[in-house]
Amino acid sequence: MKKVLVFGSLNMDLTIECDVMPQAGETLEGRNFFTNPGGKGGNQAVAAAKLGAPTYMIARVGKDLFGRQLRESLEGYGVDCTYMTESALNSTGVAVITRCEGDNRIILSSGANHEMKGPDVKSILEKISNPQDIFMTQYECNAQAVIDSLAAAKQHQLFTLFNPAPAKAIPPEAYKNIDLLVVNQTECEFLTGIYPTDENSCQTALNRFSAMGVGNAIITLGSRGSICRIGEKMVQVDSYSVPNVDTTAAGDAYIGALASALVREEPLEDCMRYATKAAALTITKQGAQISIPYQNEIEMYFKEE
Ligand code: RIB
Repeated sequence: MKKVLVFGSLNMDLTIECDVMPQAGETLEGRNFFTNPGGKGGNQAVAAAKLGAPTYMIARVGKDLFGRQLRESLEGYGVDCTYMTESALNSTGVAVITRCEGDNRIILSSGANHEMKGPDVKSILEKISNPQDIFMTQYECNAQAVIDSLAAAKQHQLFTLFNPAPAKAIPPEAYKNIDLLVVNQTECEFLTGIYPTDENSCQTALNRFSAMGVGNAIITLGSRGSICRIGEKMVQVDSYSVPNVDTTAAGDAYIGALASALVREEPLEDCMRYATKAAALTITKQGAQISIPYQNEIEMYFKEE
């Protein structure tokens, strides 16, 4: 069976809820504070593993309590952490998340996430990857390491899935190393200059990505689902209406679920639909990795379909 190899960030999320966002110099009463394992890389790996794909995490944490808790969480969800290392220099990444009216704002301290370099990832891929395995990464680690890791993954004939979040430039020569790009509206605008809202603007943005050299791209449109060109056809998969408790990690659940369905070699449109279901259920619970559903939860919730 193919596997999913994730090079990405691990953060301990410190999250608090409030009614309005504080202004500069203002102190507000918040509620419902909790810490829980997150990080885009970790969340995407957990989604792939909870949804049945053999998944490996390539990452670095600090030699500290948060680092140990993050490892325990990943292992608990079935992610192989053999290639997760501890830094002697930096502490574990932290994300401070303020939740307000069903949305969130995040401040990151990358810590050890920024230490791993391209050659570190390359040597791990040499040991564990097989052609056609899925390699997945984001932009919360060192940007050059991410770009180099995509090149290394392509050299090893892996299928590369890139989620450039948070948005940063992609060097022009790196686009050819991306088999499937997954962006939200903000990332799409940052990379193409087009804020996609309807089929026309999505099509124009997707054309730009093709011209830049990616194999294919999916644009996620929040509550309006996701869109992709499959063959000659524009395919839009609608989102599901669910109670919005906490949107944290919904995008990551989408991407990890997409990878798990790609491992099962499902057609891309079905992969998108499955990913949409995983993202929807993630929103119904608080937190990051903890809120991502297992396969049986998706089957139960959407059994009428
Ligand atoms: O995508 C959600 C994640 O972004 C959070 O878990 C937080 O750690 C930040 O990295």
